[in-house]
Amino acid sequence: MGFLDQIEPLKQSALEELRAAPDLAALEQARVQFLGSNGRFTALLKQLGTLSKDEKPAAGKAINTAKAELEVTLADRRQELELKAALPQEPTDFTLPGRRRPLGKLHPLTQVTEDIVRSLRNIGFVVADGPEVDDEYHSFDAPNTPADHPARDTQDTFYLDNSEIPNPKSESGAQLSATKSPLLLRTHTSSVQIRVMQKQQPPIRIIVPGRVYRRDNADATHNPTFQQVEGLYVDRQVTAGDLKGTVEFVFKELMGPETRIRFRPHYFSYTEPSFEIDFSSPLTRKMGKEWLEIAGCGMVHPQVFENVGYDPEIWTGWAFGFGIERIAMIRYGINDIRLFYENDVRFLRQF
Ligand code: DAH
Repeated sequence: MGFLDQIEPLKQSALEELRAAPDLAALEQARVQFLGSNGRFTALLKQLGTLSKDEKPAAGKAINTAKAELEVTLADRRQELELKAALPQEPTDFTLPGRRRPLGKLHPLTQVTEDIVRSLRNIGFVVADGPEVDDEYHSFDAPNTPADHPARDTQDTFYLDNSEIPNPKSESGAQLSATKSPLLLRTHTSSVQIRVMQKQQPPIRIIVPGRVYRRDNADATHNPTFQQVEGLYVDRQVTAGDLKGTVEFVFKELMGPETRIRFRPHYFSYTEPSFEIDFSSPLTRKMGKEWLEIAGCGMVHPQVFENVGYDPEIWTGWAFGFGIERIAMIRYGINDIRLFYENDVRFLRQF
């Protein structure tokens, strides 16, 4: 058989094999068989050199056309098979229910804060805010905390190095001799009471949820940062009965209708009289205690009113401060405060 006559049948059988290859491996085998360096088509190409001068041009043209056709077919089939390999093996079942993306949840401390805020908003309180980096004046002086009070000791408060502002009261205020007020991380949200009263006239009904800082080592019941909610009510003829009724209302909403509240005398410099709030409920009994101490409160001290420019002969008020973590721990039966900050989703998912 002459050279030219061999091209067509060989091309045909190569095309057949390439087109019939069921997968990429079979296609590669077919390619090697015909177009590889020892392939059958390649062998024919090599014979080109043995042809006479007259035969060569026609033979060369014919075999190159055939080779180009094989290469196009090879590339087409490879593309088809690659697409097929990328498709899912199982047919898609469009009747299956859709997959839901799991929604996140609010952190338990946020949930408790929002519940407290919601119930106080229902009885006319609005949320107020203040800076976490505050000064000694708003944190201690104006709330009537004397300079020798242990809370002002650097053991309890994080002071900022070499930072102070002019003392807001030092020029006009008689009770302060210092001319500078050092900056600190607020140890309680009570400083916001002062900021709000400086800015507006009574009546005032505010709640202040926020983060506070103390120089405590972390253990099961302490953490150097934690959250508080402060409340302040100022109007004419406000009584301790208003205070107790409000606290009772909030805690019944928060901890269930069987909750009972008890006030015990205590000392805070910004309230007089001052109380510590104990509460009792099935939750406290579950923790093995009838009463648990949960917050501080009292009737706003007349000196605090003086310090913000309110006339204590006209205005009366009460204030309270709750620690959010403590409430959340009792509500959810959590025995280590540090769990709130580790953000382990296995813990957080439970609330
Ligand atoms: N500031 C207090 C604390 O951090 C809590 C507190 C007690 C706030 C009595 C008040 C209050 O407003 O009247 O422990």
